[in-house]
Amino acid sequence: MTKTYTIAAIPADGIGVEVIAAGIEVLDVLAEKTGAFRFRFDHFDWGSDYYKKHGVMMPADGREQIKDHDAIFFGAVGAPDVPDHITLWGLRLNICQPFDQYANVRPTRILPGITSPLRHVSGPELDWVIVRENSEGEYAGVGGRVHQGHPNEVATDVSMMTRSGVDRIIRYAFKLAQSRPRKLLTVVTKSNAQRHAMVMWDQIAAEVAADFPDVTWDKMLVDAMTMRMVMKPETLDTIVATNLHADILSDLAAALAGSLGIAPTANINPERTFPSMFEPIHGSAFDITGKGIANPVATFWTACQMLEHLGEPDAAGRLMRAVERVTADPSLHTPDLGGKATTRQVTDAVIAAIRGDN
Ligand code: NAI
Ligand code: MG
Repeated sequence: MTKTYTIAAIPADGIGVEVIAAGIEVLDVLAEKTGAFRFRFDHFDWGSDYYKKHGVMMPADGREQIKDHDAIFFGAVGAPDVPDHITLWGLRLNICQPFDQYANVRPTRILPGITSPLRHVSGPELDWVIVRENSEGEYAGVGGRVHQGHPNEVATDVSMMTRSGVDRIIRYAFKLAQSRPRKLLTVVTKSNAQRHAMVMWDQIAAEVAADFPDVTWDKMLVDAMTMRMVMKPETLDTIVATNLHADILSDLAAALAGSLGIAPTANINPERTFPSMFEPIHGSAFDITGKGIANPVATFWTACQMLEHLGEPDAAGRLMRAVERVTADPSLHTPDLGGKATTRQVTDAVIAAIRGDN
């Protein structure tokens, strides 16, 4: 009997709806082509429209409804008329944090046909995976506001790091670095200015490193890291950073690789106690919503990450080959890449490439 993967599809808002529809089409064709498995997509209409009707971004038993799925395929969340902290905390973080998806994995490389804004980079010099701590740190949600609206108002956001939280993400990054050909890890820090949690972060990195003698690693202050990413991209391979640092560095990485529209991410629960969640890095992009020009490549690439997580590396490879065949042709670039193609045209081209692949 053919294996069936059950996937919770949550397109949510804006172009999330457009790119997830494209992703589902492509995954269904891929499954049909391989013949080894198929997908059952369960659709959830959570997001900002749901919020406007029900006052919450997802139902109270929402996680219960998706906890037994093999994976979550997520679009983007955010609407112009709902505050961002409500949409983000109400849906995306409301899934990531309780499902303990603590490893946020963001591959970046320059796909064929795409030009990096870096003059001296043609492709092979930039091939990174950023591992972002995804459960605590600066986004732990610890803090508060007192005397709201009064002149003496006080507000705090406390970055909270735990030994177990830091240990597990650094260990995950060392393991990932070990699995890549260069076995090279850069640990991003800011222990010169933040002298408590970041010093603990550094110490734990050194302790964990002892368990991975075959991985070469170094430590880099986050400000200097931005320079190194631009000036010496070839010296980097796997990168691990805190929630905030990696959030910022990965947008830089996406830009250096040509566009936010191609950057994927996976929110992984490595122990597989809960489903992991796969999404493009970008947001709901109000400026292009409904125009049919959203770049679906980030979503296709995260679908590859999902296939790898499901244990289908051959299908993942097949999909990535199809995507690269399409990006190699500039007439199939969407406007974010300087082209004129539509979401529909790129999706059709990827489907044709999958069908034509032997
Ligand atoms: P954004 O990522 O939505 O858009 C930034 C710029 O990149 C826009 O000009 C947009 O048109 C372009 N862009 C993004 N993805 C694209 C794609 N696939 N194809 C072509 N162009 C693309 O970020 P922005 O504007 O800061 O945020 C808009 C909303 O999205 C906000 O409500 C924000 O909170 C939310 N957001 C949600 C995220 C998520 O769900 N993970 C991540 C980032 C933002
Ligand atoms: Mg971000």
